[in-house]
Amino acid sequence: MYAFLLALHNLLRWVVVLLALYLLIRTYWGLLGRRTFTLQDANAGRWFTISLDVQVLVGLILYFVVSPITRGALADFGAAMSDSGIRFFAVEHLLMMVVAVILSHVGTAQVRKAPDDRARFVRSAIWYTLAIVVLLVGIPWVQRPMLRGL
Ligand code: HEM
Repeated sequence: MYAFLLALHNLLRWVVVLLALYLLIRTYWGLLGRRTFTLQDANAGRWFTISLDVQVLVGLILYFVVSPITRGALADFGAAMSDSGIRFFAVEHLLMMVVAVILSHVGTAQVRKAPDDRARFVRSAIWYTLAIVVLLVGIPWVQRPMLRGL
């Protein structure tokens, strides 16, 4: 169960990152090219946000149920804080990903409520760029393998 969820969490990272890249390309292409905001543009934001939600769900199961690292940290939080490797997953990774998911949901709502196409692209650029920057900073690129088999 642990090995499967860890590998799934690892692989889903790439799905989230690729959808983020697709979303940024559509957003800035629309913003700079003054395009009409299409259904594909709206869907790019939705798919990114949904993929992030799924990844957060898997992350929370790892965090609270199966990961020996974070369960150990929750059992003795004080000791976990003095180890930077454990603190990263117990605090920093969790907080950054929660912030990223909040920013992306705010972005989706803001884009939906925008009065015109220009405002949709501007809001998309602001909120999703912020979400994706926090997301990219929160991913353990060097501490962990780039891929794991399921
Ligand atoms: C609230 C949200 C999240 C929580 C609670 C969470 C939790 C965790 C935990 C506990 C681990 C370490 C598990 C272990 O080694 O025992 C982990 C690893 C990891 N997380 Fe998350 N995560 C979250 C969101 C995300 C997101 C959004 C991404 C990327 C899109 C991500 C990418 C990764 C990667 C790449 C690893 C390393 C996996 C590996 O070792 O192969 N996480 N996460």
